[in-house]
Amino acid sequence: MPDRRRPLVAGNWKMNGRAADLLEIAAIRSAVLAGQAAAAEIVVCPPVTLLMDAGRVCAGSPVKLGAQDCDPAQDGAHTGDVSAEMLKDAGASYVIVGHSERRACHAESDALVRAKAGAALRAGLDVILCVGETQAERVAGAALERVAAQLGASLPNDAAHLVVAYEPVWAIGTGVTPTAADIAAMHGFVRGQLERHFPGGGKKVRVLYGGSVRPENAAELLAIEEVDGALVGGASLKASEFMIIAGAYSVLKAP
Ligand code: 13P
Repeated sequence: MPDRRRPLVAGNWKMNGRAADLLEIAAIRSAVLAGQAAAAEIVVCPPVTLLMDAGRVCAGSPVKLGAQDCDPAQDGAHTGDVSAEMLKDAGASYVIVGHSERRACHAESDALVRAKAGAALRAGLDVILCVGETQAERVAGAALERVAAQLGASLPNDAAHLVVAYEPVWAIGTGVTPTAADIAAMHGFVRGQLERHFPGGGKKVRVLYGGSVRPENAAELLAIEEVDGALVGGASLKASEFMIIAGAYSVLKAP
């Protein structure tokens, strides 16, 4: 990995977490301050209800916070939605857009995902844009085509402050991961697409792997060529597990 791409390990808490779970974020903060995973940037994306309190917990530490979605609009009559500007105001540095659970459960189109990514950049947030094929698409040999289509239709105009997460839908929450060869092939492909979309800038975009990353497989997954970090779901809910994953970078790769 070129020196300029600092590894990023992000925890996506999804719809999990109560106030008591801020203790896990405090434990992540302590571990990071103690120098575990010093080579990697660490981001926690709690539910929006915990964002401001998590910000207080992480103050004065390198742990950054992210949100899991944003509305394309800035303010106004959008009952129940939260804008990127509000997330920034609440202490977020990152926002995930286009997660497959939102694409599937909220019928989010690539165009909407692109609008959300643009809104995040407008607000001064870094974007973690998720792409990935379904099991049926993988079996049909259409994984690369699917990811290329998602990138083509949902990438924002600017590569600065952009992170892409490759999350095969069939690997999310299943305990199943692609082979190292398949991950390497997809990440190499995504890199090529990014360089085509952003001449000069695509090389700098970090491409994360997500889907059943666990303490037991993190070292192997994070060592794969062109994998610049991980987007972790279930295993990010416990600081002890999350920090083992992030800690893979203390032995694997220098910043
Ligand atoms: P799991 O790590 O639970 O498979 O979830 C991955 C994910 O969807 C992260 O965004």
